[in-house]
Amino acid sequence: MGAAIDYSDLILKLENVNKSFPGVKALQNMQITLARGEMHAVCGENGAGKSTLMKVITGVYQADSGDMYLNGEKVVIHEPNDAYGKGIAIIFQETSLFKDLNVLENMFMGHEPVKKVAGFINNIDYAAMRKKADEIFEFLGITGQIDYDEKIDNLGVAAKQMVEIAKALTYDARVLIFDEPTAALTNKEVRALFRTIARLKEQGMSMLYISHRMEEIFEIADRVTVIRDGSYVRTAEIGHVTEQELISWMVGREMNEMYPKAEVEIGDTVLKVEHLKRGGETDGFPLKDISFEVKKGEIFGIAGLAGAGRTEMAECLVGLRKYDSGTVTLNGAQIHNKNYRDAINRGFVYVSEDRKKYGLVVPMSVEENLTMSILYRLTQNGLIDFAAEDKLVDRYMAELRVKAPDREFVVENLSGGNQQKVLVAKALCAEPKILILDEPTRGVDVGAKSEIHRIVSTLAQTGLTIIMISSDMPELLGMCDRVMVVKAGAKTGELKREEFSQEKVLKLAL
Ligand SMILES: Nc1ncnc2c1ncn2[C@@H]1O[C@H](COP(=O)(O)OP(=O)(O)OP(=O)(O)O)[C@@H](O)[C@H]1O
Ligand SMILES: [Mg+2]
Repeated sequence: MGAAIDYSDLILKLENVNKSFPGVKALQNMQITLARGEMHAVCGENGAGKSTLMKVITGVYQADSGDMYLNGEKVVIHEPNDAYGKGIAIIFQETSLFKDLNVLENMFMGHEPVKKVAGFINNIDYAAMRKKADEIFEFLGITGQIDYDEKIDNLGVAAKQMVEIAKALTYDARVLIFDEPTAALTNKEVRALFRTIARLKEQGMSMLYISHRMEEIFEIADRVTVIRDGSYVRTAEIGHVTEQELISWMVGREMNEMYPKAEVEIGDTVLKVEHLKRGGETDGFPLKDISFEVKKGEIFGIAGLAGAGRTEMAECLVGLRKYDSGTVTLNGAQIHNKNYRDAINRGFVYVSEDRKKYGLVVPMSVEENLTMSILYRLTQNGLIDFAAEDKLVDRYMAELRVKAPDREFVVENLSGGNQQKVLVAKALCAEPKILILDEPTRGVDVGAKSEIHRIVSTLAQTGLTIIMISSDMPELLGMCDRVMVVKAGAKTGELKREEFSQEKVLKLAL
């Protein structure tokens, strides 16, 4: 992208970096270089050490050993403020902004411009703050797009991210780090972020960029570094590498087919939804007369833009949200799941897109999370069969390649993608009859993604009924037998597998 980059002109260099956590060698003799004005992607499987590396660079974690050079000079970063002071900033995926403060306050928190009042009292200089904010927004090409006085809590993910970037620039950042910035963005928001990134690049910003999305890396990166199991694999210029090569360096083994859809005999209708409606006055998510049916062995996809009402519809089905009218029929009998317990009792399991809200108890272990909802099944004469529990957990950890030292490992200390795998494993442990998956592979690496697809496909073969919501179009079209498209709470169409194309889905969704 843009002018040729001089890869010997390094702004940042790390050598022999080691970082261990109890039971985990997260980084071993890690190295990376970042040239001035470069966009450098970092890829690797879930748990490879990408986020840890970025946290070491920004002082969130202290390396156990290793060297870091900034503009050729050796530096030691003890804490995040040191990094800021040296012009290195990270845009976390889970925002670090204060949600009760407004945009301007967040941007200048702790280093507000001040002016003297009556010659000696330091007062915050709001005019200077606004002027500086204006300059930064202009620099980013987002003038007027976000209200400075808006509370952070009232902003969407994309706007929060922009505020984080703007905040970094108040520290005159010269190195910006992005950790999976697009994972929770809509396509349109991704385009806006990329325009901002392109602008930053034009202005000479050096950037590190973590993503599991190959197409993004090929679109915006100049070079890519691959890491595997905490170790450096290699660095390549993006024009000199193919997607297949990148993946093989990441996984260190042969990859399966991406969307392994098994041949399935589709059975009778299991779930029938008729005229589902809700006003959505309280939460802004109306549903306008949605009807569909899903058969035994079928994978039924739901496509649509973020905010179209896909998640809300799923939540209505499993009792996490209320609907005003409409009927739901399960195997011929009308049902109404008033809460999630009802749904579970009827064989539904919902894998939420929000794994921390519904799903995982992060301070608990992998084992506890996997089996907490099925302990009754593992109990005989009032005693839990611990051996059976361990066996079950081992099986799912292996099948989904959950990267943790052992079953007792606390979920909160797993990498993001591995937490997602635990969430899916937990759903599978529950042996559902109707499995509803909402963005099941978000943040999951290519290898694990294909494992999840293979498992879902096998489950359909064994007669499960599966509903899959996903913003990942190739995934949806690769896996599903039929896809329903929703837009603003209404069904705009339904496509059979033989009719699938990205264009058709997009046309119905837009
Ligand atoms: N605070 C912590 N305590 C213990 N182990 C940790 C901690 N943070 C990370 N780890 C472990 O370090 C390893 C690397 O994790 P890291 O988050 O860097 O992976 P990642 O490459 O960012 O993965 P993902 O793609 O899933 O985000 C993992 O095995 C993880 O469980
Ligand atoms: Mg990570």
